[in-house]
Formats: sequence, C-alpha cells, structure tokens
Amino acid sequence: MSTQDELKRQAAEAAYAYVQQDAWLGVGTGSTVNHFIDVLAERQPKLLGCVSSSQASTQRLEAAGFVVEDLNVAGDIPLYVDGADEANEHFELIKGGGGALTREKIIAGASERFVCAVDASKQVDLLGRFPLPVEVLPMARSYVARQLVRLGGEPEWREHFVTDNGNPILDVHNLEIMNPIELEDRVNAIPGVVTVGLFARRPADVLIVAAEDGVRTLTRQVPG
Ligand code: A5P
Repeated sequence: MSTQDELKRQAAEAAYAYVQQDAWLGVGTGSTVNHFIDVLAERQPKLLGCVSSSQASTQRLEAAGFVVEDLNVAGDIPLYVDGADEANEHFELIKGGGGALTREKIIAGASERFVCAVDASKQVDLLGRFPLPVEVLPMARSYVARQLVRLGGEPEWREHFVTDNGNPILDVHNLEIMNPIELEDRVNAIPGVVTVGLFARRPADVLIVAAEDGVRTLTRQVPG
C-alpha cells in the first residue's frame, strides 16, 4: 500500500466511529470509500441498509453482504460517508473525480450528517486546483462548455466516460474559486447542467484528515 493509500485507510477507519447500528448508512464513491467499505466488511455493523452513490460502491457493498436500497425507500438518512478531491477550511469540497457527483450530492443533501474522509493532500486554501467536474446532459455539452469559458474556466470533455446516469462530464481547469457558493449557483443555473461538483451549499459536517503525523477530526460549527 502506498503512503497515500495508507492514509486513506486511516481516514476511513476513523469515519467508522460515526456509523450507527440499526440505521441507514449513505456510502459514497472512490478509493477512500473503498477502504471504508472494507472496514464495514470486517466489522459487520447491523444496518437497516445502505444507500450508495454509484454502481461500483453498490457492488462492493453487496459483495460484503450489505443490503443496498434506493434512496426513495430509505428516506432521510442519518449519516453519509464519502471522500473528496479537495476540501477547504470551510468544509467546502470539490467532488466528482470518480464521476459520481450527482448521486453524491443527492445523498449528501438527504443526510443529517456528512462525514468526509480525506488524506492530507486534499486540504487546500483555495478550491480549484483540482479540475471541477460538471455533469451535463449530452446535447448540452458544447453549449455548457462555452458558458464555463465565460465564467473563466477551461472545460475539458472527459472522453470515453459516461456517468452512472448516462451523461458526460466536463472537467473545468484553471479556476480559482474565491466564492464557492456563488460559483455553485452560477454553474447550476446554466441550462443543461445536471450537477456541479462543488459542495458548498451543502458542505461536509465533519472532515477527517489523515496525515503522516496523525488523524485529525474537524467538526463544522453551525452558526446560530
Ligand atoms: C467520486 O465521484 C468522488 O467525488 C470521490 O469522492 C473523490 O474523487 C475522492 O476519491 P478518492 O477517495 O479516490 O481520492
């Protein structure tokens, strides 16, 4: 296991502390989440069931013996565990490097608590060095790309890739995201955009950061 992979495993193990028995569990997508599913497989908590953000995570969960249900069956869920591609000090995230951003955003929205587990390389002062994924309807790909250029980005079509929803992704390079909420709203307002991988309106509640000198758990203070 590489050092980064080892840190992802440590972050995933720390996230397990939030898992509740006899409850629904939302499960994200990616290599950190794969470690988390492996931890679930080892510890076998008694869950009502899982809601998954991708076919890949569903397969891994089912192989480990967990029941995966549709979000429409589960309703609101107490806990969602996922990784991220970047995280800032306000718990705002870029997600979607694995292409599962739309389902991830839906499950995060339906969850009371969003625990995001990352290795320390994902922590940034300013979001945007990681290309911002935008899922679009197929017919709108070029149109949305032109609008993203007007917002200052350099969109690149993620070729030979379609999401679990059957849509293409544009990865937007060279953005310095000074105001994540504003940019999330502006990209969402472009006709044809399905989801932008900025998680600022619904940031993480808990950020678990695994670094070589230890694992830190940060909890977002909700104003008021
Ligand atoms: C999946 O679409 C993403 O949002 C992942 O959560 C993100 O890319 C983190 O992935 P890793 O855990 O593989 O770094």
